[in-house]
Amino acid sequence: MGYVERGNTAIMVDYIKELADVDVFEIVPVVAYPADYDECTAYVTEEINENRRPAYKDDIANLVDYETIFIGGPIWWGRPPMLFRTFFEQHPELDGKTIIPFGTHGGSGVGSYATLIKEYYPNATVLESLGISGISIRNASSKTMVENWLKRLGVDKQSTAIQNVRTNAVNKGVSYSLNGMRSTGQRGIQIRNGNKYINR
Ligand SMILES: Cc1cc2nc3c(=O)[nH]c(=O)nc-3n(C[C@H](O)[C@H](O)[C@H](O)COP(=O)(O)O)c2cc1C
Repeated sequence: MGYVERGNTAIMVDYIKELADVDVFEIVPVVAYPADYDECTAYVTEEINENRRPAYKDDIANLVDYETIFIGGPIWWGRPPMLFRTFFEQHPELDGKTIIPFGTHGGSGVGSYATLIKEYYPNATVLESLGISGISIRNASSKTMVENWLKRLGVDKQSTAIQNVRTNAVNKGVSYSLNGMRSTGQRGIQIRNGNKYINR
């Protein structure tokens, strides 16, 4: 592996950034991990065995303002890096939020992100996670996987835009489906000139 210009998880974050309306915060360790693969694996093993809490640079103060938060990274020895434990212990305000786990891996999946998140935040709503194999992250099919996942969760740009439209009026009797079909006497929402009309 050795030094890579852009990490696999960073590429997955690029897809999410492009397809969803998100702000990004990166948890950066104070002490960088060794670039050499063998040194890195030895270092990470030590970190796990000693149950360390590596420090990270900066922090994010306004997480409380967000309702939905994506949390992700690589999988190291079947689990999220210990850095996430440091971060979670600094952020009790995430309990009760909606959390979407994601990450890249070498074959073992990213289920352990959801497990760790639930351990720290038992009151959080943890939505379907997405794990992508690091080797295939640059393939177009991986971007499509991200796109479909965001749509399933209703957090892609289009869904968010619809949710954020102002509700201006309550119509009675006439409704429009999102593809513009007009029907009478049905409940639904209509979006016209940037306003959302709810037909009850
Ligand atoms: C120290 C270390 C341990 C790893 N352990 C696992 C593992 O247990 N299971 C797995 O599927 N992949 C494992 N991998 C592979 C990474 O999860 C995978 O390459 C990932 O895409 C790296 O993301 P990044 O480029 O953002 O760091 C490990 C990689 C490293 C460096």
